[in-house]
Amino acid sequence: MEHWTAKRRDFLRMMGYGASAAAVAPLLAACGDANSQSSISELRSRLVQDEAFWTQVQSMFVLNPQRTYMNIGTGGSMPQVVLDVFAKENLLKAEDSSSGYGNLLDLRQQVAPGFGVDADELAFSANTSSGMCHAILGIDWQKGDVVVTTNHEHGGGNTPLSIAVARYGIEVSRIAMPVGNDQTAATYTNLFDERIRALKAQGKRVRAMMWSSPTYVTGTMLPIAELMQVVKTHELISIVDGAHLPGMMAYDYAALGMDFMSGAGHKWQCGPGSTGILVIRNKIRASNPLPLPKWYPVHSSSYSALERTTNGTATYDIAASVTSCGSLHVPMYKALAQACASWDTIGRKKIETYDLALSSYLKERIAERWGVESLYSPKDDPKLLSALTCFNPFANKADVKDAQKSTAFVNRMLSDFGPGFVIRNASFAVIGDSVNHNGIRISTHLWHDANDIDRLVDSMWSLRNSMA
Ligand SMILES: Cc1ncc(COP(=O)(O)O)c(C=O)c1O
Repeated sequence: MEHWTAKRRDFLRMMGYGASAAAVAPLLAACGDANSQSSISELRSRLVQDEAFWTQVQSMFVLNPQRTYMNIGTGGSMPQVVLDVFAKENLLKAEDSSSGYGNLLDLRQQVAPGFGVDADELAFSANTSSGMCHAILGIDWQKGDVVVTTNHEHGGGNTPLSIAVARYGIEVSRIAMPVGNDQTAATYTNLFDERIRALKAQGKRVRAMMWSSPTYVTGTMLPIAELMQVVKTHELISIVDGAHLPGMMAYDYAALGMDFMSGAGHKWQCGPGSTGILVIRNKIRASNPLPLPKWYPVHSSSYSALERTTNGTATYDIAASVTSCGSLHVPMYKALAQACASWDTIGRKKIETYDLALSSYLKERIAERWGVESLYSPKDDPKLLSALTCFNPFANKADVKDAQKSTAFVNRMLSDFGPGFVIRNASFAVIGDSVNHNGIRISTHLWHDANDIDRLVDSMWSLRNSMA
């Protein structure tokens, strides 16, 4: 660290090397809400107004400078302070060979406030997929129960749903998802509400709603608060695949009130691989007065036969039953807790605002160059915004249906530019088309800035022209 300035050393200390949170306050001047309809130049100036701060944040990471890493939606990158905790705790464990048994209550108590919940409502899981298995396979499904979901779900949620179909005889009703900018939050509430009403009219027993916020294919943030109104109207169990939420969005999950939110610790939250955060409703709050669903742990060393509470006081620590299963990799979860502490210190809302401003800037620049119809992600309703951006880059619009060409675009974005860009594509159904589209998906996060996006857009445009 000798070559770093005193200012940078101070910053790193604040990010986990011992300074008090109060010392961070001067750096945390609010950066204003991103308005997705702002002009491109307004968005750009918002992004650069706090440049010194974000440059310091960028210096926390050890990312390879030969690449511009823009695939956080698949996996994040541990900052140095997290790597240090991980290494130190691994060494201590090897030296002392201490026990890995327990439910990590102390760590859950540290992490839970950043997500707006109590420790008994925040469990550590192995990743999003593991959390979805805990949630879905633990419910006391009855034959004929219907789960209403979308056709843009990830395998992490679809696999436990398929198991529940085969094992318990549930039925799955999928809503075809719209794509593009021409939609609002009400589009989704109407789609879910209408489908549920239609199923009920057929005599079906709709029992749960499951959806991704955001979807991994188009990055559309299905609006949780609004969809929870539909959940409450129809008295349903609510299961959110929130793989991308921890570390990206500063949501207060107690206020949202869903039964389950399964998120990754290793994506936007930048914790170690094999970590996840599962938020489980475990008491009745004003945000969701519905009874708690009956639920059994399926992967646990801790089982309480107590009934779930009917009031505001939990009868047992449900998150403990998810977290504890045999001997745990405690250093890994300590490293996750450090990642969460770093995010709390920077400010989760500040990160969300910056991430969404970056993504709005990218979406506006894509709309400017390629036309707004090239976007699969909506850009104008702020409730639908996430830090994922998906679009069709091709001069010949039909080329997006050619999976090989789309993969070639992804590969050439890495190989043809210096530094190359790490992005990905995603294959998904589009209403009215019999063939899947293979959109290009870009993740923008706290180590990026407006210049990265400018270079990305110029590079994608030049590749579009050479592949035309
Ligand atoms: C929406 C969604 N759900 C689930 C997953 C699976 O995530 P994990 O690797 O944390 O299990 C992903 C991964 O990309 C995802 O995007």
